[in-house]
Amino acid sequence: MEEKQTVIRVKNLYKIYRVGENKVRALNGVDFEIKKGEFCAIVGTSGSGKSTLLNMLAGLEKPTKGEIIIAGEHMEQKNENQLVKFRREHIGFIFQSFNLLATMNALENVALPLTFQGMDKQKRLKRADKMLELVGLGKHKKHRPSQMSGGQQQRVGIARALVVRPEIIFADEPTGNLDSNTSREVMELIQTIVHEQNQTLVMVTHDDHLAGFADRIFRIIDGKIISIQTREEYQNEQNKA
Ligand SMILES: Nc1ncnc2c1ncn2[C@@H]1O[C@H](COP(=O)(O)OP(=O)(O)OP(=O)(O)O)[C@@H](O)[C@H]1O
Ligand SMILES: [Mg+2]
Repeated sequence: MEEKQTVIRVKNLYKIYRVGENKVRALNGVDFEIKKGEFCAIVGTSGSGKSTLLNMLAGLEKPTKGEIIIAGEHMEQKNENQLVKFRREHIGFIFQSFNLLATMNALENVALPLTFQGMDKQKRLKRADKMLELVGLGKHKKHRPSQMSGGQQQRVGIARALVVRPEIIFADEPTGNLDSNTSREVMELIQTIVHEQNQTLVMVTHDDHLAGFADRIFRIIDGKIISIQTREEYQNEQNKA
């Protein structure tokens, strides 16, 4: 069998914030690798460094020290313009807040990222239409955000993130604003789509249950990864607790 390709490699990563006289070690020496097509969850309590790590991976912040290699390219060596281009070509984001445009309906919101790729209108709407069907919103295409539930809005947000078919998706508490049943449904949806499209997903969450949807679970405490488990190992441990 062919070895799976490594798409994300983090080496000896540190992020130290200075607050007045104090130093906060938000990331305190992090190392890991993620393969193409993997769904990895980074789980940890509030303040453990999850968002900091995700922001570093996405090149939204510069590390204090260390290396981040994504799709063979060193993120920490890129300038702002190069990072913008890299993100546009390789990365999709799913945020906790849906960030949908209020004046646009679901279809227009999902089609929007494709305009930045210079795709013509007919093609854009067709691709967005398919994506909305995939997330189960075929009947809500003409609804504006205010005319949808929280879970439906989050599904529009997911459709918008995935419509450009990014190789790598970063998600920060993607179901943070949803009730637990809707969260589970949305997680199953994300899991199914990324596996089908062979995309790599890195999700951060403080929720142990949602982390259990991932193929591998990284536990972070005080800026350090203290364990990496497969879903099976993780669930066995959860069942014992
Ligand atoms: N810009 C900043 N300046 C100073 N300290 C910061 C900054 N951003 C984050 N920190 C600190 O770094 C640590 C990690 O923060 P981070 O936002 O990564 O946590 P988190 O795991 O995402 O938490 P949450 O679950 O609450 O979102 C915290 O102690 C936080 O106070
Ligand atoms: Mg956070």
